[in-house]
Amino acid sequence: MRHSSSDSSAVYRSMAYLDWSEKYLTGISNIDVEHKNLFVITNVLYDNVQANGPEANIVPVLTALGEYVKKHFSSEEMAMRRAEYPGIVEHTEKHRALNRKVQAFIEQCNDDPDAVDTKELLEFLKRWLTNHVLKSDMDYVPYLKQAEDAPD
Ligand SMILES: [Fe+2]
Ligand SMILES: [Fe+2]
Repeated sequence: MRHSSSDSSAVYRSMAYLDWSEKYLTGISNIDVEHKNLFVITNVLYDNVQANGPEANIVPVLTALGEYVKKHFSSEEMAMRRAEYPGIVEHTEKHRALNRKVQAFIEQCNDDPDAVDTKELLEFLKRWLTNHVLKSDMDYVPYLKQAEDAPD
């Protein structure tokens, strides 16, 4: 069977920008669900940019991402507090920095959409999310699991 070029582009498009894999699993179910959703929303943002190019209106998806990030950060921060995780201050500061960065991108989109480098934005999000989950989030896992297992 011959493959037309549209077949191969369909295969290409089926590859997500952020590929979820087991290495991102913390084993804490609500956190894993939220991380997966963050990957999904970032992929929606990527697909929007791919489909619409520089004309893409990314504000709605970026705003949704910003809201979901805040929700996720508060559930993590609550769990870290409950577990008395010693790295909470440093970790929370990383969350704040990401919140500020996403807000700055949204403001830039509203002020002067032409000035927003969507490629840079997507690369930043990919790097930040994957590094943060693999390094910073994995650090709290033993503490959160111990707190989960502890009797009330
Ligand atoms: Fe996280
Ligand atoms: Fe985190």
